[in-house]
Amino acid sequence: MDLELNGKAAIVTGGSRGIGLACARALAAEGCSLLLAARGKDGLHKTAADLEAAGARVATLAVDVTAPGAGAAIVEAAMTAFGRLDALIANAGGVVGARSFTEADDAAWLGTFQLNVGHSVALLRAAVPHLAASGQGSAIFIASISGRNPMSSGAPYAAAKAGLIHAARSLAWELGPKHIRVNALSPGSILFEGGGWARRKAEMPDVMASFESTEFPWGRLGTPEEIASVAAFLASPRSAWINAADIPVDGGQRRPSL
Ligand SMILES: NC(=O)c1ccc[n+]([C@@H]2O[C@H](COP(=O)([O-])OP(=O)(O)OC[C@H]3O[C@@H](n4cnc5c(N)ncnc54)[C@H](OP(=O)(O)O)[C@@H]3O)[C@@H](O)[C@H]2O)c1
Repeated sequence: MDLELNGKAAIVTGGSRGIGLACARALAAEGCSLLLAARGKDGLHKTAADLEAAGARVATLAVDVTAPGAGAAIVEAAMTAFGRLDALIANAGGVVGARSFTEADDAAWLGTFQLNVGHSVALLRAAVPHLAASGQGSAIFIASISGRNPMSSGAPYAAAKAGLIHAARSLAWELGPKHIRVNALSPGSILFEGGGWARRKAEMPDVMASFESTEFPWGRLGTPEEIASVAAFLASPRSAWINAADIPVDGGQRRPSL
């Protein structure tokens, strides 16, 4: 299937590692130009060089997505580089500070909400005029299955992802008249070198073996590529009738975390 992304332009936050990197690769393979945003310049430059060597058009912006004005700066960088914007993948996310309720202070709760919900909303706000001009604008918020299933430890993260899912579903209605689609994509546990699950596998192989065999129908964690192919489809006009949705991409995972 031709995803009709050739010649279009997209933003991926957190596009230098893990799921975001896989999303960038998937979109680039379809001929989509990319603005990649993350904090670390080295990761961005390496990713851009790899993608450009494969023929992609890539621009980067080293920025903390939680900083004031970051969303507008990212959109401006994309428009300066490509003159158009058709899709965004708000992927940067995670836990700020302590995970558990007993240890997470106000700063941890606020920081986790700002990283996951705040940055996604600010990015979309700045992108709206350009996504509307595209006529086929698509915004994808990378959430988590933790946003719909409780975690035994990690309430700030789970609550932030729940908020992100609900924001996506509500914003799809508000932006519907502009023909901008907004969807949440909720990964299950995803394994990649340098990621949290790879670290847990190295630190406690027996616990992880049990987790994988009991909580996943296929007995393994997912891969970033298995998330990225769904993200690319959601960015594409070929998914035009998927809107205001929260799509779990988790291989049937039963429990969101250990
Ligand atoms: N991995 C999983 O199992 C899993 C499961 C469910 C949902 N998710 C969600 O999927 C998304 C990606 O997860 P991942 O595991 O691939 O993440 P990751 O390994 O932590 O990578 C995150 C990416 O975001 C960038 N980033 C992090 N904080 C940033 C900030 N404040 N400003 C700008 N860029 C920032 C990182 O680059 P720099 O460090 O250079 O900034 C990196 O490129 C997250 O929203 C996560 O919550 C992941």
